[in-house]
Amino acid sequence: MRFKVDEIASVIEEEIRKYRTEVDLSEVGKVLEVGDGIARIYGLTGAMAGERLEFANGAQGQVFNLEEGSVGAVVLGDYLGIKEGDEVRRTGELLSVPVGPALIGRVVDPLGRPLDGKGDINTPYRRPLEFKAPGIAERQPVTEPLQTGIKAIDGMIPIGRGQRELIIGDRKTGKTAVAIDTIVNQRGNPPEEKVICVYVAIGLKESTVVGLVDKLREVGALDYTIVISASAADPAPLQYIAPYAGAAMAEYFMYQEGQATLCVYDDLSKQAQAYRQLSLLLRRPPGREAYPGDVFYLHSRLLERSVKMRDEYAVVPKDTPADSRDRALAVKHPEGLAAPAEVRPDGADGTYHRPHGKHKAEAFLASLPDKDKYKVHRFPDSGGSMTALPIIETLEGEVSAYIPTNVISITDGQIYLEPDLFFAGVRPAINVGISVSRVGGNAQRKAMKKVAGSLRLDLAAFRELEAFAQLGTELDTATQRQLDRGQRMVELLKQPQYQPYNVNEEVLSIFAGTRGFLDDVPVREVARFEGAMLKFFRDQHPEIVDEIDRTKDLGGDLPDRIGQAIRDFKSQYNKAAAPKGSEVAA
Ligand SMILES: Nc1ncnc2c1ncn2[C@@H]1O[C@H](COP(=O)(O)OP(=O)(O)OP(=O)(O)O)[C@@H](O)[C@H]1O
Ligand SMILES: [Mg+2]
Repeated sequence: MRFKVDEIASVIEEEIRKYRTEVDLSEVGKVLEVGDGIARIYGLTGAMAGERLEFANGAQGQVFNLEEGSVGAVVLGDYLGIKEGDEVRRTGELLSVPVGPALIGRVVDPLGRPLDGKGDINTPYRRPLEFKAPGIAERQPVTEPLQTGIKAIDGMIPIGRGQRELIIGDRKTGKTAVAIDTIVNQRGNPPEEKVICVYVAIGLKESTVVGLVDKLREVGALDYTIVISASAADPAPLQYIAPYAGAAMAEYFMYQEGQATLCVYDDLSKQAQAYRQLSLLLRRPPGREAYPGDVFYLHSRLLERSVKMRDEYAVVPKDTPADSRDRALAVKHPEGLAAPAEVRPDGADGTYHRPHGKHKAEAFLASLPDKDKYKVHRFPDSGGSMTALPIIETLEGEVSAYIPTNVISITDGQIYLEPDLFFAGVRPAINVGISVSRVGGNAQRKAMKKVAGSLRLDLAAFRELEAFAQLGTELDTATQRQLDRGQRMVELLKQPQYQPYNVNEEVLSIFAGTRGFLDDVPVREVARFEGAMLKFFRDQHPEIVDEIDRTKDLGGDLPDRIGQAIRDFKSQYNKAAAPKGSEVAA
């Protein structure tokens, strides 16, 4: 670099000023008191809330309480190695974790340190643990389905990409199973619809996590999944930060790569308990159920980070590579933001977003005199999403406790799992009556919407009639028919673990059920009949399967063709493998 003589003085002054600020940052304090994963520190008068600290033994900490004469901090690591009087250093930065593709397939702790013994994670990227959720203008409505592969959920409680759906239920009701099956189902996505999954285990036994990771590896789901574990044996601070670390790792793919992501937080009740423990140790005033007053914020700021980001388009020179993220290439409309509505850009940089960003960009391109030299470009780092599946454990079905009500109110719906159903063999044990998805049909394939429309009401009516029928009263034929249909639908929606269905299989199964093709199949035969029927479609009518996959709809005469195929199948089924006494009428 060359300087003019009269500039040298100002450059030196500037350098001295910078030098000062750097010195100021490394403020050093002393530990007053340490234990149970927390420390009180004297002398860090300039510390910020949430700032990362370094202890003399190498452990990291995070500033939690700013008090008059001291700072309360949580210790993320070995607090037993910290003694009274030890030095603590400020770092001037917030806590962050390593992120990036290098983490895929790895099992890490909430600070991103490997737990799987597969060596260091080399990634140039880091993201802050806490990140402000984007505002409404940077988002777009949730409309793309996130297929769980579970018939009952995709049919009745559809989840969209960017949605937050709570999985709630007592101990051992299959909560983890629903989340893991959803992760497993993402292996069937085509490359351009890939979903990166992050599974955050909070307060589980280490052996449980090892089992889950083995299972994910076995079915090939670890190829697109990051596992973060803060086990029951880990100190409370690590359990407290684990879900934020998970969100940060997913955010890399959402913001930097424009990809779809899925975060499972298993489970947030344990995180809230860890937070309560820390807060009480740091003498924050306890409120309801002894949780500190800001426990709502604990979960709201986490779940608000789940979004569907807007797609960004621009008119760019024709030779721009498809993976270009350079907004500066955008050809700006000469009238800028004053242009007519159909071609008005949404950003001062000439980019088009929502709604109808693509159409507006196309209209602008068409209006250019030398339009052959340009094209409409979608920025590949836009349009990412983060879907969240938080899990909450209830005690004796008590959904009105503090933490469950909080999380219910933050999420866009809940899947409610019930022990009674679970033990009666209805698995997944979803209570259809009180499970909802507020995004609902907007995020459902048309084909699914058409077949599953009445399913939910049918089942709810069935549950009511069922209770009534137990009284032993005489039933009229219409009621009896409703009961029979209901029993078969319940049977049809049962699904074993680790066997997610394709959309076409889900559609065909539910079609057979809701259109009454199962009404004369004995209840205990339903599962076998369904399996054989799906095989029949795969072998004999691949064109129907393809059409459902391709059009994602049941248009034209497709429903009739499916109906005819099922009738054909039924006549075969009777002649062939049907065990004695289970014949069905064609
Ligand atoms: N659809 C299913 N079909 C058969 N078995 C299932 C199904 N879903 C779950 N299970 C079994 O039920 C048991 C409990 O499931 P899971 O661990 O998912 O429940 P949970 O609610 O997460 O339990 P916890 O309270 O321990 O977290 C497991 O042994 C699991 O294999
Ligand atoms: Mg579980």
